[in-house]
Amino acid sequence: MCTLCVLAGQDAEAAITLDLTSKDSIRAVASTVAFDMMSYYTGNITGDVPGNLPDPYYWWEAGAMFGTMINYWYYTGDTTYNAVTTQALLHQIGENEDYMPLNQTKTEGNDDQGFWGIAAMTAAETNFPDPPEEYPGWLALAQAVLNTQIPRWDTSTCGGGFRWQIFTFNNGYNYKNSISNGCVFNLGARLALYTGNATYADWALKTWDWMNAVGLMSPDYKVVDGTHNTDNCTQKDRNTWTYNAGIFLLGGAAMYNYTNGSALWQERVTGLLNASLLFFNENDVMYEYCEYTKCNVDQRSFKAYFARWLAATAELAPFTHDIIMPKLRTSALAAVNTCTAGPRGTECGLRWNMTNDGSLGVGEQMAVLEVVQSNLVDEVPGWVSAVKGTGKSRGDVNAGTGDSTSSRLHSKHVTTADRAGAGILTFLVLVGVIGGTTVMFLD
Ligand SMILES: *[C@@H]1O[C@H](CO)[C@@H](O)[C@H](O)[C@H]1NC(C)=O
Ligand SMILES: *[C@@H]1O[C@H](CO)[C@@H](O)[C@H](O)[C@H]1NC(C)=O
Ligand SMILES: *[C@@H]1O[C@H](CO)[C@@H](O)[C@H](O)[C@H]1NC(C)=O
Ligand SMILES: *[C@@H]1O[C@H](CO)[C@@H](O)[C@H](O)[C@H]1NC(C)=O
Repeated sequence: MCTLCVLAGQDAEAAITLDLTSKDSIRAVASTVAFDMMSYYTGNITGDVPGNLPDPYYWWEAGAMFGTMINYWYYTGDTTYNAVTTQALLHQIGENEDYMPLNQTKTEGNDDQGFWGIAAMTAAETNFPDPPEEYPGWLALAQAVLNTQIPRWDTSTCGGGFRWQIFTFNNGYNYKNSISNGCVFNLGARLALYTGNATYADWALKTWDWMNAVGLMSPDYKVVDGTHNTDNCTQKDRNTWTYNAGIFLLGGAAMYNYTNGSALWQERVTGLLNASLLFFNENDVMYEYCEYTKCNVDQRSFKAYFARWLAATAELAPFTHDIIMPKLRTSALAAVNTCTAGPRGTECGLRWNMTNDGSLGVGEQMAVLEVVQSNLVDEVPGWVSAVKGTGKSRGDVNAGTGDSTSSRLHSKHVTTADRAGAGILTFLVLVGVIGGTTVMFLD
């Protein structure tokens, strides 16, 4: 009998079987879960906008989802969704190639932008095929996100930190939250590891120190949600979320790896991992606290990032591997057990400690997909980097600032279009001249 197997569903015909001892089984289950997730996506349908999910999903969740699809390719080798993923990630880069499209201004906070940046970073780390020449490389897009965020470091209150929102007119501008600071910490650490540039690590450290000084991270490494400018960050929203634990855990693992296994980061990663274990129940199945009450649409996807970042932590900080992997296994088996709903009888639920709970959607699918595919972490080559000479994604240290080579490339692109435009103008002038001549003749 296979102790690492589960047969989901009452109807054996429709059931998904997951056998964690078989790579093919993990791949097949991931493929089914990915298919159901991508059936929510309409951005590749004629007339729709690539990179957007339909209501009720916010713009950021699409960025998060395409990050999952890069990981899907990395873990399974299945290229089915690569083209649609590249199209989405490039369509949303925005006018300045930094994941700040003007028409998302009303919903875009630092964390929203951060999730698109993290998707681009994942593409660089996994050697996902780089975009065509006229676009910035994945690395440059991740650098652009960090470069645009750094000037938003706010010393007017609370001794520093990043605000949740970018724009003063958006709700939450006065909130400084862990996920926005976590995005800078995580991206900074990963950029340092990939490029070897210490400036990125300095920003990770600065964010880490502030999180601790202000009390958003406790001495025992628990990360709470956020705090308000209005009382100089005295009161805290003490809710804990899996993705806040995960974003600091993986950033810590990247710092551990970047510092060649320093004792300091080993201690911090150990602490963060211990605090993360609170999100596993007595059967070692991952859960989100809101599952006891009600999770909103965003929150239903958080376990996806937690699972993704736990698996990456197991790789970058190998001393965590044997603590993390058994929990990803038990969670994957429980999660797949819920994949019995929807039109095909394979859609998964939100709560993994029971049969399908009727909560279906992109977040639910994404979480199950990540927890299943993360079980392939030992089967794939590790993350690449420019430092090791294996990472080839095109970077640009000035991306997102006024002085970037990628925007120069882009303007070269525009110049080509201008030249085409100039051609049309020449043609129209000629038509005008001939037309005028005709008029003259008619006179
Ligand atoms: C927003 O801007 C993008 C280009 O960045 C454009 O393709 C899209 O049609 C616009 N509208 C929506 C709803 O995304
Ligand atoms: C706000 O908090 C920061 C950091 O803790 C402190 O340096 C600053 O003096 C405080 N400002 C006020 C007005 O209390
Ligand atoms: C850094 O990560 C790689 C995997 O990408 C791993 O092989 C290596 O052992 C890690 N370094 C340390 C110091 O643990
Ligand atoms: C490191 O990154 C900083 C910040 O983006 C940049 O100013 C600097 O030029 C980079 N250094 C190198 C050697 O690329």
